[in-house]
Amino acid sequence: MSKSILITGGAGFIGSHVVKLFVTTYPQYRIVNLDALTYAGNLENLTEVEHAPNYFFEKEDIQDEQVLEAIFAKHGITDVIHLAAESHVDRSISDPLAFVKTNVFGTVNLLNVAKKVWTGAFDQHLFYHVSTDEVYGSLHDGGFFLETTAYDPQSPYSASKASSDHFVRAYANTYKMKTVVSNCSNNYGPNHFPEKLIPLCIHNIKNNKPLPVYGKGENVRDWLFVKDHARAIDVVFHKGKPGETYNIGGFNEWKNIDIVRLLCQKMDEKLGREPGASEKLITFVQDRAGHDLRYAIDATKIQQELGWEPSLQFEEGIELTISWYLENEGWLDRVTSGAYQTYYEELYGSK
Ligand code: NAD
Ligand code: DAU
Repeated sequence: MSKSILITGGAGFIGSHVVKLFVTTYPQYRIVNLDALTYAGNLENLTEVEHAPNYFFEKEDIQDEQVLEAIFAKHGITDVIHLAAESHVDRSISDPLAFVKTNVFGTVNLLNVAKKVWTGAFDQHLFYHVSTDEVYGSLHDGGFFLETTAYDPQSPYSASKASSDHFVRAYANTYKMKTVVSNCSNNYGPNHFPEKLIPLCIHNIKNNKPLPVYGKGENVRDWLFVKDHARAIDVVFHKGKPGETYNIGGFNEWKNIDIVRLLCQKMDEKLGREPGASEKLITFVQDRAGHDLRYAIDATKIQQELGWEPSLQFEEGIELTISWYLENEGWLDRVTSGAYQTYYEELYGSK
């Protein structure tokens, strides 16, 4: 049977790379992108596939049960890859309820609809939940997050993602739904919304604006190129064992301050500035409340059991990323001006 896959959050950063990968690699699958187009959703991320015959877009909210039921029926949804979420930690600190609504309630709503529609044939349908390494909390010494590491979320964002992960596993245990969960480290690459560290710095360096480094810049993140995450999601979707969890990461830890300095150095070269010019923009600002010190993923399981490995070294990935932002000034300008939010009307008419 051919698949009709509902990908939620497909207009966002990671979701758009997953949609593009699936639409182009699997012309036999029907790919249905369901996205509410919040501030983080941008259909301009999907221009390469927007007219593909196996691609469908639904501007809808995962919190709406009736709408989800109608979409499952309309497209004969066989599988779900669930990425829709509120994803920015700083926003979760100022508005935690928005994260409960989408990340917890929205996920349970989606699980309920899938359960209702797929009852009696759970073995033929997969609910794949895409999650984060932040559910494991903060590492303060050496060591890595394993799939067996106890959850210890520290921010409203990670608490909401941890809760949604627990619900997915609870549905597998209680109702015997076929589910899989993956927990990935920090992604970077094209189409990253410029509220996050790397695209924010690229944008600000280009425009000679201050680079806000939280605290002393000592916090450590493990960075993975977004297309390698999308490839991992493909591998987990097709080869992952039901009920299992897979950690995804790049074995690529960086202190924030070192990443910011590297971006300054590379951008100085590309923009023809004096060496050291952009570093003068670095500004240490008040730390994020409850700022997790270090994340580090042990991705051995997915490498050994499913044969996935990152395709890019960080040096190559960051070069590609900076070049993409410099070559796609229009994308960045339309995102920072808010003009990208009219693209839906331009493409699909008003709704
Ligand atoms: P993003 O913020 O760029 O995109 C989220 C997308 O979800 C947007 O297109 C938005 O419009 C959509 N959305 C939000 N609320 C919705 C709702 N109620 N109904 C329907 N659509 C809604 O996020 P991202 O960085 O691409 O992250 C995608 C997923 O991957 C999230 O679940 C996130 O927790 C997880 N994740 C992200 C990272 C990372 O580094 N960015 C790492 C690991 C895991
Ligand atoms: O680890 C996976 C997570 O990575 C995902 O689940 C989240 O959705 C994603 O947003 C990301 O979370 P972070 O909080 O790690 O990403 P962010 O880019 O916001 O911040 C990266 C680090 O840089 C973090 O230690 C905070 C710091 N920072 C961030 C910003 C935006 C700064 O120092 N200055 C900044 O202006």
